[in-house]
Amino acid sequence: MRTPLVAGNWKMYTTPSTAAELAARIKLDTVNVDFADIAVFPPYICIAAVAEALKGSNIEIGAQDIFWEPEGAYTGAISARMIAESGCARVLVGHSERRTYFGETDEKVLKKTVAALSEGLKPIVCIGETLEQREAGITETILDTQLKDGIGALKNIDALTIAYEPVWAIGTGKTATPDQADEAHKYIRGLIAGRWGDNVSRNIRILYGGSVKPDNARSLWEREDIDGFLVGGASLKADSFRDIVNSVK
Ligand code: PGA
Repeated sequence: MRTPLVAGNWKMYTTPSTAAELAARIKLDTVNVDFADIAVFPPYICIAAVAEALKGSNIEIGAQDIFWEPEGAYTGAISARMIAESGCARVLVGHSERRTYFGETDEKVLKKTVAALSEGLKPIVCIGETLEQREAGITETILDTQLKDGIGALKNIDALTIAYEPVWAIGTGKTATPDQADEAHKYIRGLIAGRWGDNVSRNIRILYGGSVKPDNARSLWEREDIDGFLVGGASLKADSFRDIVNSVK
């Protein structure tokens, strides 16, 4: 049995004070949750305030990105070591918004994932096709390439979580249907089995992301290969995030 994981990606929302308030609400609202792992991904500048607000809870904190070098003359960049020391256990790698707006490639995904693992962080590696790619019938090829080039070189992926996030479903209000999501998740799990073996593929968590809301979470969660969610918009309200967490019970 894979423990579900519900992760909130706060993107470029909140300030240190509002992030601390949101974290404190989530902490209160999920105090009795023993059936799922929970993680929040605030902006870098809010991590310290969130870590303070979440003291004494099991909610994990992650960063939304890292640079792959441990330190150096890289103006504006943040390393795995820096976020680890700031209280992060996790990091998102390869989010589609990073791919679209910041030139993230599968090659960079690999470097960042390696850097994260070297600091003991647990990366959530995000993959997913665009609408054009889906309509062209190449979804599986895209997932295959992103997985192969992004993490295929890693010998051990035990610390990784995969997030399947169809780009056309992110922030659009268009969720993949449970059938569409499950089909992609099964395909990804099959790819993992082929490369790392059945045991690894049985244990790795594959999250769905893309317009997850309290009213669609349950029907997605009921599918065998969906192990939780990476939630954007709906994670910015404590009550909708709580309802999504409760849907994986
Ligand atoms: P969304 O974002 O839930 O707002 O669609 C998901 C994500 O980007 O991780």
